[in-house]
Amino acid sequence: MTEDRHPSGAPWRNFYGRFRGKTIRASQKDYLENDLDALSPGPIDWDINPDRVKLDPAAIFDSKDIWLEIGFGGGEHLVAMAERYPEIGLIGCEPFINGVAMLLGKIRKADVENLKVHPGDVRDLFDVMPDAAISKAFLNYPDPWPKARHHRRRFVTAEHLEPLFRVLKPGAEFRVATDIPDYVRQTLEEVPKAGFVLETALPDGMNTPWDDWVSTRYEQKALREERDPHYLTFRKPA
Ligand SMILES: C[S@@+](CC[C@H](N)C(=O)[O-])C[C@H]1O[C@@H](n2cnc3c(N)ncnc32)[C@H](O)[C@@H]1O
Repeated sequence: MTEDRHPSGAPWRNFYGRFRGKTIRASQKDYLENDLDALSPGPIDWDINPDRVKLDPAAIFDSKDIWLEIGFGGGEHLVAMAERYPEIGLIGCEPFINGVAMLLGKIRKADVENLKVHPGDVRDLFDVMPDAAISKAFLNYPDPWPKARHHRRRFVTAEHLEPLFRVLKPGAEFRVATDIPDYVRQTLEEVPKAGFVLETALPDGMNTPWDDWVSTRYEQKALREERDPHYLTFRKPA
């Protein structure tokens, strides 16, 4: 049976989010045209890496530890982490190009050098990441998909969690923030199935953000709309 594939060789992966929103401002177009290439972690997309040759993590940040932010939105948490931890290299993935443009604006102002950006689906990055390459991962306010029939689109499903587990180092931390109680339920069910161990003491522990937490645009919106943040910490066993 032939596998269902894109002409570039990429598997068809359902992506239900948005790639592009309102018009992009001229300044943001400039960031995308002039800054993005230099921030690439390496050949990730199928059209430029059809054989899915693995990246060399040591070459990306000169052997620094690597942290990954999945779906960075406007990039406020990602840039703040890069500023706070100059000894770490951070990779952010985000397919929504308006968000990528916002991040690039913030990078120009912050002048950080320990940050790389994959303007696309994190699953494409997982394909080309060797095992045990990443020391920490952040999933801040993943798309909620509130309807029951859409729960399988959520990030906290085996399709995403299994490759995430593989690319994390033994002992690595995986943080999840969400404002949706049913997302907490699915996270507590699915993340341990992929091999992670929950570290947050339930139920009260999930009301307290991490010491170095930086609130995001989505969290601010959730607070305005009177939804409660939940913070969960998992670890890949050492
Ligand atoms: C609700 S938004 C939250 C954005 C940001 N983390 C925040 O807290 O403001 C979820 C983000 O995840 C991104 N996303 C969804 N699926 C993704 C995937 N497979 N890989 C990377 N990012 C993804 C979406 O494009 C969207 O920007």
